Amino acid sequence: MGARETCGRGDKYGGGVGGIVGGDEVGRDPPDPFLVPRSLALPSQNNNGKAFLSEDASKRVEEPFKVEEAETVKVPPPSPDKLLVLGGNGFVGSHVCKEALDKGFTVASLNRSGKPSISESWADKVIWNKGNLLEPDSLKDIMEGVSAVVSCVGGFGSNSYMYKINGTANINAIRVAAEKGIKRFVYVSAADFGFVNYLLQGYYEGKRATEAELLSKFTYGGVILRPGFIHGTRRVGSVKIPLGLVGSPMQMVLQSAKPLTRLPLVGPLLTPPVSVASVAKVAVRAATDPVFPPGIVDVYGIMRYSDQKLWAL
Ligand SMILES: NC(=O)c1ccc[n+]([C@@H]2O[C@H](COP(=O)([O-])OP(=O)(O)OC[C@H]3O[C@@H](n4cnc5c(N)ncnc54)[C@H](OP(=O)(O)O)[C@@H]3O)[C@@H](O)[C@H]2O)c1
Repeated sequence: MGARETCGRGDKYGGGVGGIVGGDEVGRDPPDPFLVPRSLALPSQNNNGKAFLSEDASKRVEEPFKVEEAETVKVPPPSPDKLLVLGGNGFVGSHVCKEALDKGFTVASLNRSGKPSISESWADKVIWNKGNLLEPDSLKDIMEGVSAVVSCVGGFGSNSYMYKINGTANINAIRVAAEKGIKRFVYVSAADFGFVNYLLQGYYEGKRATEAELLSKFTYGGVILRPGFIHGTRRVGSVKIPLGLVGSPMQMVLQSAKPLTRLPLVGPLLTPPVSVASVAKVAVRAATDPVFPPGIVDVYGIMRYSDQKLWAL
């Protein structure tokens, strides 16, 4: 292909038609100096400014350049982006892993217990790592070669435990990811629930502390998802609990009641539930689509993005 182009340009500029001379001399289209050797492409000019070619030169330009057939170099295809899912064996994390695998990404997970004891094909495709976000040194190697992180780590317990697992653990992960130069980090946080925030103080304080850290360390690539109740099929041991039986109808009823969520006290309780499939879809898109806007995505945003068919990839 390259060889043919070279001959074509050589014919046009060096083919000896009087008016078509080297573009830079007469202000016409300059020949590409990388494609046409200057001595052949630009005929000399006589005193009238007209171009002429020596016999020798015209012979040379009429002969097509002989270019050796280029050697085909085998370049390996670019490796697909590697996504690290923190908490990949949990309810939300397992759906994020499945979604990312479906989209063709390489998926690794980190959680304390490693690979879940289930016999589902997706689980065999994930690179499972055992690790604890409360021990940040153990994260450094795992974050090597990772292009984006999705954190689905969180939990309930005493106030101090909830702060640690929703806050400190995730803050550690954000700091290591930033040190490693990872470009995008998605955190599955939670919507405000009014007075419930007060009852679960450690949980919400931990979430908001993580959000603040993410926005400061990943100004251009940090995305915070704030779902309310997430429904779908949750696995507890070998038992599958279909939370969607309750969650889906609630979502249908509440998704158009957005103004009511601004009511004091009860308002936030009317935040519509959202499906785990939607959360996973938006999390993977936010982690891998470079034009997905950074910042906070509330439950309505999650529903909207998950309904979009097109990816900017
Ligand atoms: N489910 C909901 O309705 C809902 C609603 C709103 C927001 N969220 C948020 O969404 C996120 C995911 O929720 P989920 O329901 O999927 O929770 P989950 O099923 O309990 O999963 C939590 C995951 O975190 C891992 N983990 C816990 N502590 C860890 C640590 N110190 N180091 C590494 N991994 C750790 C767990 O694995 P190991 O135990 O093996 O470590 C598990 O994979 C949480 O942040 C939660 O607050 C959930």
